[in-house]
Amino acid sequence: MNATASKAFTPLTIGPLTLRNRFIKAATNEGMCKGGLISQGLAQFHERMAEGGAAMTTVAYCATSKDGQTFVDQAHLSADTVADFKVLTDGVHKHGAAAQAQITHAGAFTFLPKDFSSMKPISANGGFNKFGVMTGRYMKKKMDRSDMDAITDEFVQAALHAKESGFDAVEIHMGHGYLLAQFITPFYNNRTDEYGGSIQNRMTFPAEVLSKVLDAVGKDMAVTVKYSQTDGKAGGNTVTEGIEIAKILQSTGAHMAQLSNGLNVESIDTMFGNPLPKSSVKPKSLIVRVGMMLQPKSKEPDKEFKQLYSLDPAQQIRAAVNMPLCYLGGAQTMDNVNTVMGQGFEAIGLGRALIFDPNLINSLQNGSIKNSGCTACNQCVTLMYTPGGTACVEQGGHKGHAPKLNTIRASAA
Ligand SMILES: Cc1cc2nc3c(=O)[nH]c(=O)nc-3n(C[C@H](O)[C@H](O)[C@H](O)COP(=O)(O)O)c2cc1C
Repeated sequence: MNATASKAFTPLTIGPLTLRNRFIKAATNEGMCKGGLISQGLAQFHERMAEGGAAMTTVAYCATSKDGQTFVDQAHLSADTVADFKVLTDGVHKHGAAAQAQITHAGAFTFLPKDFSSMKPISANGGFNKFGVMTGRYMKKKMDRSDMDAITDEFVQAALHAKESGFDAVEIHMGHGYLLAQFITPFYNNRTDEYGGSIQNRMTFPAEVLSKVLDAVGKDMAVTVKYSQTDGKAGGNTVTEGIEIAKILQSTGAHMAQLSNGLNVESIDTMFGNPLPKSSVKPKSLIVRVGMMLQPKSKEPDKEFKQLYSLDPAQQIRAAVNMPLCYLGGAQTMDNVNTVMGQGFEAIGLGRALIFDPNLINSLQNGSIKNSGCTACNQCVTLMYTPGGTACVEQGGHKGHAPKLNTIRASAA
């Protein structure tokens, strides 16, 4: 099939939003929000994705509150960031693309400096917090009903601020080990009440958040969910739970689900299809350092990157639900895109391939290339939170596109 005939280049409607094609730039933490301020570099990063042909670009990790951040240099979507994000969304819209804000809360998975935020982070379970050892947050608080109401309201407020900022969609992050995933995965949820036990119970609170966000903005914006279709580690969720999660998202009314993989710490190689580099590079990001430190403990041989590495569980989920699904994981070529479309997925997400080449979609469409040059070396992951932010090492790292990290606000003043 030639590129122009591919279904991937036809419009897609999810909820109230119609996208010009089926390519979604997946959230990849940009590291371009120094001190939480939205930078020109962040706006330019997403404008390049729009200019390069993606239907929708996702701004990664927009925390619903200060406590919801994992690091200081992350955005907190609030009344304070509306004007700056509006500049970003205007830049995306100028090129005919849509902008999506990933809204999320860290729960116990936070590495903020001491006393920057709560010293007793919330989670599904209480007790010892292994993520808090380096920051003095040794204990976590088991969420009670009033905590759940407060967090649900935070997600709703974040979605409303996203709407005001001109975003066309919000993606509720239920994957990778953040707060909502801490309810979904058995690794962090051993509750015996109605929020623990079966996958249906573990999904009760995340589904409530989804339902309330849909009520608040679902008529005006697409409300999508990203979740881990498997946890990728023994004792965690398998595709059996991945299917049940999709059924719950469907019955709750999510406009699309993006099928991601794995957990930040326990199974980062499941997320990326291969491990993080074990080189002498010492990334500044604590998240990445923790992930790298834990890797050598595995007795398994390193996973070798394969294109479309997570197609098998995704196909099983595809067969179980009718809702729009976005495939994610190792898509690099026009053949990959056509395979995904042929399997009945409505959309395709790309992370690393678009960090490597933001113009990839246009080039695939006009036939000038058939393959991304991304080698899945994962060095872009180790560059998150370095002074220039996320960039492709093979394309010259920060030298390729030195992002302007001055804030939009400062430039406007
Ligand atoms: C540098 C980098 C940062 C990432 N940050 C996030 C993030 O903030 N939120 C998220 O949901 N996924 C994040 N991811 C995961 C991607 O969305 C995606 O799941 C993963 O890269 C696999 O897709 P790919 O094979 O198309 O790259 C990140 C990936 C990369 C490479």
